[in-house]
Amino acid sequence: MKKESLNFKHYFGGMAFLLLIVQLLTGIFMTMYYQPQLENAYKSVQHINNVVYGGGLIRNIHRWSALLLVLGTIIHIIRSFVRKDFFHEKKRFLWLTGFLLFFIVISFVVTGLILPWEWRGYWVMEMVPNFLGVTHFIGNAAKQFLIDAYTIPRNYNIHILILPLISIILIDLHFLMSLRKRGIGRYLAKHALIAMPFFIAIIVLAKLLPIPSEDPDIIPLPLEGKFIPGPEWFFVVLLTPFMYLKGVLVPLFSVYIPFTIFTLLTFLPYYLKKKAVSASKGLLASKGLKAGLVVAITVVIFGLIFLGSYQSPIYGCNACHNAYRGVRMGFPPPTFKDRKINPILSDNEWMMRHWYYPDVTW
Ligand code: HEC
Repeated sequence: MKKESLNFKHYFGGMAFLLLIVQLLTGIFMTMYYQPQLENAYKSVQHINNVVYGGGLIRNIHRWSALLLVLGTIIHIIRSFVRKDFFHEKKRFLWLTGFLLFFIVISFVVTGLILPWEWRGYWVMEMVPNFLGVTHFIGNAAKQFLIDAYTIPRNYNIHILILPLISIILIDLHFLMSLRKRGIGRYLAKHALIAMPFFIAIIVLAKLLPIPSEDPDIIPLPLEGKFIPGPEWFFVVLLTPFMYLKGVLVPLFSVYIPFTIFTLLTFLPYYLKKKAVSASKGLLASKGLKAGLVVAITVVIFGLIFLGSYQSPIYGCNACHNAYRGVRMGFPPPTFKDRKINPILSDNEWMMRHWYYPDVTW
């Protein structure tokens, strides 16, 4: 097989890489205006969104591109999985760095959701410690640590400095190193061309379905954002066990099982030896079957994410939590770290129901 044609086998990987560049550029633009302070964070985001020329579009592109980036990465992983890349000695390292990159992408999403520091950001910030807090042994310590350690500037630094630095190193190890010999420019140009439909889709979506930020002048409706996919989906889907399950089942389904699956997959090439290839080779020899399997796994994974998340009205929070309501209901309270003053923040089930059904549970 010619080296060139290999490129296209990683269509979704190339797309994810290009979307990361989109995130970098739109992100740099927003760092010019964003202010990482309790009082000003959301105001500065509103300023970007409503006043800065092109700011609204850039912010919404950053959101939609984040969503497609995670989707693209997951499809890229599924394809590599079905192609059994983990059996290649040479690709072992690609597999490992790829999974670490996926973890970084999810970390980008979570830290990014917190940044605007409106009530969605506030909610996400409270739910990250709650999420780890349900685990046995280390849960309480991890939860307290995250609450204590959290500040807006720290979260901001992780999002714009630490995660990008780790990504650059991982991307270099993952494929830039080998790509450099073939020419990165050519690769980028080619993939930019074939990923064009996605770029156009992102701009159209950013224009048609922007995140409402005109409050308190124009407030959204409480249930706005239902059915509209957002990067939030990838986080809240992990939290749905809080709403439907009780006791040990909660950490089991929201932390232990996802974490175990992730770890097992990450190190797959290191304990699955080559022998197994020949055994299963015949089964997936045909290209059509492989493609079918990729589609099937993709449908199942995204079906689950959709089922878990589509009801959450991610745009509606400011219907009730807007500046007209003053500091307690309008802006996240300065006491947000104190669970004695705000005991409700530790009530995971309430927090989830309020996110999903804010018109019913409050
Ligand atoms: C229908 C109005 C309404 C909507 C919509 C709404 N909330 Fe609330 N929210 C409230 C009220 C009222 C309270 C105070 C409840 C209490 O303290 O007993 C509250 C409390 C909270 C709290 C608890 C912490 C605190 O400081 O009181 C969080 C977190 C929260 N809301 C986040 C959200 C998020 C995120 C959304 C959007 C998904 C949202 N809210 C949508 C009315 C609403």
